[in-house]
Amino acid sequence: MLRFTLLWLLVFFLSLVSSSARPAPFAMRISCGARQNVRTAPTYALWYKDFGYTGGIPANATTPSFITPPLKTLRYFPLSEGPENCYGINRVPKGHYTVRIFFGLIKQPDFDNEPLFEISVEGTLIHSLKSGWTSHDDQVFAESLVFLLDGTVSICFHSTGHGEPAIISIEILQVDDKAYYSGPERGKGVILKTTSRLTCGTAKPRFDEDYSGDHWGGDRYWEPIRTFGQNADEPRSTENSIKQASDAPNFYPEALYQSAVVSTDSQPDLAYTIDVDPNKNYSIWLHFAEIDALVTDAGQRVFDVLLNGDTIFKEIDIVKMSGDRYTALVLNRTVAVSGRTVTITLHPKEGHHAIINAIEIFQVIAAESKTSSAEVRALQALKRSLGLPNHFAWNGDPCVPKEHPWSGADCQFDKSGRKWFIDGLDLSNQGLKGFFPDDISKLIHLQSLNLSGNTIHGVIPSSLGTITSLELLDLSYNSSMDQFLKA
Ligand SMILES: *[C@@H]1O[C@H](CO)[C@@H](O)[C@H](O)[C@H]1NC(C)=O
Ligand SMILES: *[C@@H]1O[C@H](CO)[C@@H](O)[C@H](O)[C@H]1NC(C)=O
Ligand SMILES: *[C@@H]1O[C@H](CO)[C@@H](O)[C@H](O)[C@H]1NC(C)=O
Ligand SMILES: *[C@@H]1O[C@H](CO)[C@@H](O)[C@H](O)[C@H]1NC(C)=O
Ligand SMILES: *[C@@H]1O[C@H](CO)[C@@H](O)[C@H](O)[C@H]1NC(C)=O
Repeated sequence: MLRFTLLWLLVFFLSLVSSSARPAPFAMRISCGARQNVRTAPTYALWYKDFGYTGGIPANATTPSFITPPLKTLRYFPLSEGPENCYGINRVPKGHYTVRIFFGLIKQPDFDNEPLFEISVEGTLIHSLKSGWTSHDDQVFAESLVFLLDGTVSICFHSTGHGEPAIISIEILQVDDKAYYSGPERGKGVILKTTSRLTCGTAKPRFDEDYSGDHWGGDRYWEPIRTFGQNADEPRSTENSIKQASDAPNFYPEALYQSAVVSTDSQPDLAYTIDVDPNKNYSIWLHFAEIDALVTDAGQRVFDVLLNGDTIFKEIDIVKMSGDRYTALVLNRTVAVSGRTVTITLHPKEGHHAIINAIEIFQVIAAESKTSSAEVRALQALKRSLGLPNHFAWNGDPCVPKEHPWSGADCQFDKSGRKWFIDGLDLSNQGLKGFFPDDISKLIHLQSLNLSGNTIHGVIPSSLGTITSLELLDLSYNSSMDQFLKA
């Protein structure tokens, strides 16, 4: 009987352990161009050797910033390999992820070329490198929060004619499904692109994991800002522990709340301005903790928060709202911004001047719908059977990002199915030598197909006749007859 009870107790405790301890989040880090797995200080992070790429060349790397992971290699995509090159990573559990890409510079004597290119994740454009990026620590990577629901992630690099895309690392780090949830408008079809992430009142740059932040936080990078302006404000810091910092869903490191800036008598309003892309929605996250010894109770520091002049939070009283001193308070708001700057102003209302510990600004991006997977497979079969040359770079999704479709493909959006499909293919005069794949009949929305001026062997598949929408078929100047005669 006793043994029986013990067994039940054991089962009971095991179930307690499994329900309270959360499993570690999925984390995949790739050291691009590396032939072996790599571990890096200070957290002994594991970087997998390079895999999942569509092409490109490994090379030795120069890291443009001290915040770039200390990896020695990169992968670059020469222009001869075409304008679109990707990484496709499989077996990613369904969930919510931070996807981060660090850019690199090829280590070569006399090489000071700063490449400019664009990056898409799952077919949605998330980043354009801006000239001068190598001299700003917070511009040496691109990062976005994205839901990955079909077990894979596709990350593509789009050449813009300014040098060769070069990538040091790719990180796919799972975060809480509710991380940065701002309300019903934040559906799974929304991507948050990190625009700015600041830790105030300190000169120390911070990654979550360097500060023993929870792994579920996604190892964020915090750019330090000691003060907002000369003499307008001053830094504050504390060694006291902070309550409610590392809570779900965002798991912020406690250290984030142990420093802040406070405004001074000379300039009671605390203001911070950054440049942004105009006509976008931005999700703003503000972090507070009352760490100033002068404030001991609610009512002693009350301020409004304005964004580009409009009040977004009225009468913030940190001690009252967080419940105590040395306690984290996080507020978020999504706003439409028409101009090229965002200015956040803290305007004192009562008692002591304003205080702020950290700021996060994300651009809200509607995720693109992808191309019907049956049509993508048909195009891939066509690519193989026609022996499409490298420079075509038919990688990633054929239709999205809309700014970078596959060359030769015309796309249409099916609103009801929320998918793209191919309605035209023009591969005329490309010197293609190949044969006609049967799978072409899977392009069931095709209206025109122009393969004139190539060398296409074999018979036209009868299945082509099943594409009822096909109106234009041009196979003229098929030169395989000449070759046939020569041979
Ligand atoms: C990269 O550097 C290593 C030595 O660190 C050298 O042996 C190798 O040849 C270099 N590779 C290239 C492509 O320059
Ligand atoms: C963001 O703010 C909204 C209210 O505007 C709130 O409902 C939501 O819980 C907040 N999100 C987080 C993660 O704190
Ligand atoms: C911004 O959000 C509003 C409300 O959700 C939406 O109607 C609008 O299309 C968004 N604007 C942009 C540029 O995404
Ligand atoms: C097919 O492409 C060739 C070369 O670009 C063009 O001359 C021809 O008119 C096209 N055929 C049709 C039917 O549009
Ligand atoms: C091209 O010409 C060759 C030789 O006449 C023929 O066998 C082949 O079927 C033709 N291909 C197409 C697609 O018309």
